[in-house]
Amino acid sequence: MYVTALDRPWLESPFPFQGFPVDAQEQLATLKKTCEYVYIDEERGAASPSESGGKTASTRNRDRPITLTMERTDLTGLGWRGRDVFRHDMRKVLASRGKLHRHVQRLLSDVRFGRSADTRESRILTLELIDVAMANPAAALWLTNLETKHDFTVAHCLNVCILSIVFGLHLGLSSDSITDLALGALLHDVGKMRTPVSILDKPGLLTEDEFDIMRKHPVDGFNILRKDKGVSEKCLEIVQLHHERISGQGYPFGLKNDEIPVHVRIVAIADVYDDITSNRVYHEGIPPHTCLNMMFHWAPRDFGEDLMQEFIRCVGIYPIGSLVELNSNALGIVMSANPASRLRPIVMLIRDAEGKPYDRRPLINLATPSAKGGEPKWAIKRVVDSKEYDIDLGRIAEMEAGA
Ligand SMILES: [Fe+2]
Repeated sequence: MYVTALDRPWLESPFPFQGFPVDAQEQLATLKKTCEYVYIDEERGAASPSESGGKTASTRNRDRPITLTMERTDLTGLGWRGRDVFRHDMRKVLASRGKLHRHVQRLLSDVRFGRSADTRESRILTLELIDVAMANPAAALWLTNLETKHDFTVAHCLNVCILSIVFGLHLGLSSDSITDLALGALLHDVGKMRTPVSILDKPGLLTEDEFDIMRKHPVDGFNILRKDKGVSEKCLEIVQLHHERISGQGYPFGLKNDEIPVHVRIVAIADVYDDITSNRVYHEGIPPHTCLNMMFHWAPRDFGEDLMQEFIRCVGIYPIGSLVELNSNALGIVMSANPASRLRPIVMLIRDAEGKPYDRRPLINLATPSAKGGEPKWAIKRVVDSKEYDIDLGRIAEMEAGA
């Protein structure tokens, strides 16, 4: 049988949200343990309720937004790959990110001063970033936490690009789709170079008139890039539509539901996530875990629940880079999203129970059973705000990468 939906959020299950065929006893057993009933698609595979094990509530065809594979990007590789390999990968991401940073700075300044945008180089450098992010998505995600005192817009473009690449990999998209996604994400706010700096950097709330000006940036971005042959249709859609929301309350066109392509919604999620979690002139960044909770509640209105649930599965319930307090009272940084054990990621300890910083920050896998083979010894007690402890997470990321 082909399962199209569960009786509970996908997040609470080990299954992929796009639906999946059940053709092995093992899968059936896991399904029975997880759900009371499931929804199946009779056209793609039929089964009687007795064969399905669980109760079949009804059949329905849910429009799946994208063709996905069952394969998942492995974000858990820290343990066996070893820390040195992880650091090596981080340095590679950092070097690639650095090149892209300098390029985006130049590109945005060119656009601001009316010169043409060199999107050919954007494409070359973006492909390089995709390569290093594919080699170690966890390292790439961690480097979205680098603190940027200046150049908020540049750092935001890079972070949205990395988040979109990792999310695209997680969804099993084709390499062409990921290239479009990455380039579109990198250029998504290029239209802001037509927005006056006094509005972009205004610390307080925007007036209605200022907000109207700000809302022009998706169309301005589209107009800047539309004649550029190196920018695909999908990239242009991302630039023009990334503030559209499925309720129709977005801008510039108030599109609804399927009128907003999935690649646009992927970047929209990455955009909002980075905007809320990063420090800006107009707000202090909110911890990633809190941000995901907020976005999860907005999802039915803004991005679609299924896609948002997949994003949470991708970055982890405790997203990479989150600061957490363990039951031992030690403080650590989440270093992996472990799909097999979502509440027990790999954590890098930074302060011991007495608050003393570790010189060599050890890694522990919270899923490792205790010495006697029982429940794991350590667990996350709570997510804490780095400001509460005056910890500079960006600096720690830089030190770990040897920057
Ligand atoms: Fe934007």
